[in-house]
Amino acid sequence: MKAKIIATGSYYPEITVTNHDLEKIMSTNHDWIVQRTGIEQRKFSNHNTSQMAYYSAVDVIEKAKIDKNDIDLIIVATFTPDHFSPSCANEVAKKLELKKDIPSFDINAACTGFIYGLKIVQAFIESGMYQTVLLVGSENISKVLDFDDRGVAILFGDGAGSAIIQASDRGIIDTVIANKADKNKALLVPNNVKIETPFTHNRYCEPAYVQMNGQEVFKFATTVFVKSLKEIIKRNNLTFEDIEYIVPHQANLRIIEFAIKMLKIDREKFVVNLDKVGNTSAASVPLALDELNEQGKLKKGDKIILVAFGSGLTYGVSLLEW
Ligand SMILES: CC(C)(COP(=O)(O)OP(=O)(O)OC[C@H]1O[C@@H](n2cnc3c(N)ncnc32)[C@H](O)[C@@H]1OP(=O)(O)O)[C@@H](O)C(=O)NCCC(=O)NCCS
Repeated sequence: MKAKIIATGSYYPEITVTNHDLEKIMSTNHDWIVQRTGIEQRKFSNHNTSQMAYYSAVDVIEKAKIDKNDIDLIIVATFTPDHFSPSCANEVAKKLELKKDIPSFDINAACTGFIYGLKIVQAFIESGMYQTVLLVGSENISKVLDFDDRGVAILFGDGAGSAIIQASDRGIIDTVIANKADKNKALLVPNNVKIETPFTHNRYCEPAYVQMNGQEVFKFATTVFVKSLKEIIKRNNLTFEDIEYIVPHQANLRIIEFAIKMLKIDREKFVVNLDKVGNTSAASVPLALDELNEQGKLKKGDKIILVAFGSGLTYGVSLLEW
């Protein structure tokens, strides 16, 4: 039994922030951002992460044409949850007003969250434990950006992408997830809980803003992007000719172009929407996948690869048969 994505869904926030809008509040310019990243605009939301996840869930449930009460597990991948607890997945279950009590939990693998989620869902479905899973990547990154840090604030956007995954005779073929832990401070979001009790030493509490060593992350991303693609192809005795589409994490066009050049893959195979949405972390891969799916480009039996990297430093790749 395999785990198959039977439908994909999206939620795009209501506020569009262009590079020109950013020019008005920080020392940057449209041409620099486009040249270094490929990003032209991003979406910011007034909703919290679970509300965006819920909107995306409603979209995917409708497209999957399933009864929402058939869902037997909900996982939300996010590094920007509404609360420490309850989880966003708990909130989504509540908002969906399901008739039965089902398990729901969050995972945090930053921008690789959706691929980590796929690996978990794959294991659960292949073992026969669950039959219909809702997997959402949802992020509210605008709230953890320091708009005085132009090297970071220009990169990210909010949004939520989702999938319904069911047991089937075809679907996910192989998923590899990993973490390069020795570089785990190159991309960091501190939590700003006051660390002060009557019984422990008080510690300095930093604001919860994304901190990044851009060049270090760039080097890591290009290396693991190429390595992951090569590995998944080799493990499954395929060539890139066998792959219809590659849906990469939408961090930076230069990272994608590096892989295209190194691996000599046809550019048309890469799905790119970062110009319109920026880096939406765990929402990035499912949003791009849903865009591809909505364009009607995916055909039964197509082999596609999803690949991502992010804070952790995490990375992951999944090969699917549509
Ligand atoms: C962030 C990133 C775009 C910066 O590009 P870069 O080529 O490394 O740029 P640098 O940080 O070396 O800065 C080059 C110059 O541009 C300036 N600069 C930085 N941000 C700028 C901005 N938004 N607008 C204009 N100038 C900017 C720097 O101050 C620096 O100026 P200086 O040479 O006078 O000191 C790039 O490092 C990157 O994409 N890294 C990966 C980030 C990523 O994908 N993170 C998410 C992973 S999930």
